Amino acid sequence: MKRSIARRLALMFALAAMLITSVSATLLRCSLKQSLNEQMQNELILRHSVLDPVLAKYDSPAFWVGLRQKLDGLTPADERVRYWVVVDDPAYSYGGQMPDGQDWSRRPDGFSTLEIADRDRPMELLVKTIPALGSRPELRFIVGLDSTPFMKTLDHFTRILILISALGVVLVALLGYWIARFGLGPVRRLSRQANSLPPGDSKQRLDTDALPGELQELAMSFNGALARQEAAWCQLEGFNANVAHELRTPLTNLIGQTQVALAHGRDVGELQDLLQSNLEELERLGGIVNDMLFLAGAESGQRATELSDVSLYEEASKTVEYLEPVLHDKQLSVVISGDMRARIDRRLFHRSLANLLQNAARYAVPASTITVSLVSQGMQVEVSVSNAGEPIDGVHLERLFERFYRADAARARSDAHHGLGLSIVRAVASMHGGRVFARSQDGFNTFGFSLISQAVR
Ligand SMILES: Nc1ncnc2c1ncn2[C@@H]1O[C@H](COP(=O)(O)OP(=O)(O)OP(=O)(O)O)[C@@H](O)[C@H]1O
Ligand SMILES: [Mg+2]
Repeated sequence: MKRSIARRLALMFALAAMLITSVSATLLRCSLKQSLNEQMQNELILRHSVLDPVLAKYDSPAFWVGLRQKLDGLTPADERVRYWVVVDDPAYSYGGQMPDGQDWSRRPDGFSTLEIADRDRPMELLVKTIPALGSRPELRFIVGLDSTPFMKTLDHFTRILILISALGVVLVALLGYWIARFGLGPVRRLSRQANSLPPGDSKQRLDTDALPGELQELAMSFNGALARQEAAWCQLEGFNANVAHELRTPLTNLIGQTQVALAHGRDVGELQDLLQSNLEELERLGGIVNDMLFLAGAESGQRATELSDVSLYEEASKTVEYLEPVLHDKQLSVVISGDMRARIDRRLFHRSLANLLQNAARYAVPASTITVSLVSQGMQVEVSVSNAGEPIDGVHLERLFERFYRADAARARSDAHHGLGLSIVRAVASMHGGRVFARSQDGFNTFGFSLISQAVR
């Protein structure tokens, strides 16, 4: 069965009602029982107060004959009220043996309860000692009152209480269910609104104004999720357009050159040149496709696997050496600061550091110095490349790590740079559990990435 908030709330209401009614019913029952007890005791006191002075006043056995008749007359046929006069001299006694052979002498003066075998309910007793007078010895006068009618009242009242409480609990549960369903109306309206959002329109949002405060937050989070989806969707659409764009230029070149070559007769040398040029374009295309595949792999959660324990200074030196010709062209020098050992994929490390150094070489002020910094923080190492250059606008800085994003969009598509270098750096960082960063301050532009030195498995 599906979980339902309304049903759960109704159950909670019912439990609360059950608790409240059972406590108040118990209290009511206790107070009724107490007042019924008081009533019984008052009746016993009243009967004693009428007869005690009569018993105390007379001492002759002749008078007791009349007294017995009077007590017989006072005892109802159903023996709801009974009298006993307990004394050693049988001339003065009345009422006979105690029921079930119990011993009167054990019973103290005052109120007590007498269980009788053939009755459901006990008798309430009031025992009083009447002092000796003349020839009459001391006697004990006992009045007993059957508690059955009182207890019946109590039982009846208890049954009614239970019935009313049960009815109350059922009613509260039903009402609670209705209230909860009514209260949850805005949730249903919200879900209808969400269901009716058109599939093709990613700009649509839920209307939060008409919602109660408790649901506004939920609707706002939902709208936030929609906004993120929209952004991701836009990025994907832009990405598709970018890929098409990047592939179009080399393909147009290939087609154009090949068409021209086919239209006119060409000698072998010219055809060789054409093939050479076509090969370069094809290599560019191959490069883009390979980079795209690499990025797709990293995005789907691929981790660096070919790990080795290396000195980052040594590895960075090798990358710098490899890029020597590019650096030499602009008379740039490179300084590497810091060193540490880390367990990383060195091929990926070279690839991302080379991308950063190539960018730095491209944008650095000629004849300046590029700094490669290696900083470690526990298991994390930070690699950054800093070059003197034109400041980069903050708007661009945040987005440069996106695929195909270039700050200098105008000339971007004309050269051999596709705008994938920094996204590869980001992919390498994420494959090592790290992240990327970029700063532009005091005439220096710094791009870098962090890596978590991987544990030996
Ligand atoms: N050191 C830097 N100084 C100034 N701008 C930079 C620097 N590094 C990167 N950028 C900017 O970031 C953009 C993206 O860099 P990225 O390396 O991703 O692409 P690219 O260098 O244009 O192309 P690719 O690396 O694929 O050949 C560059 O086009 C450039 O505008
Ligand atoms: Mg680059």
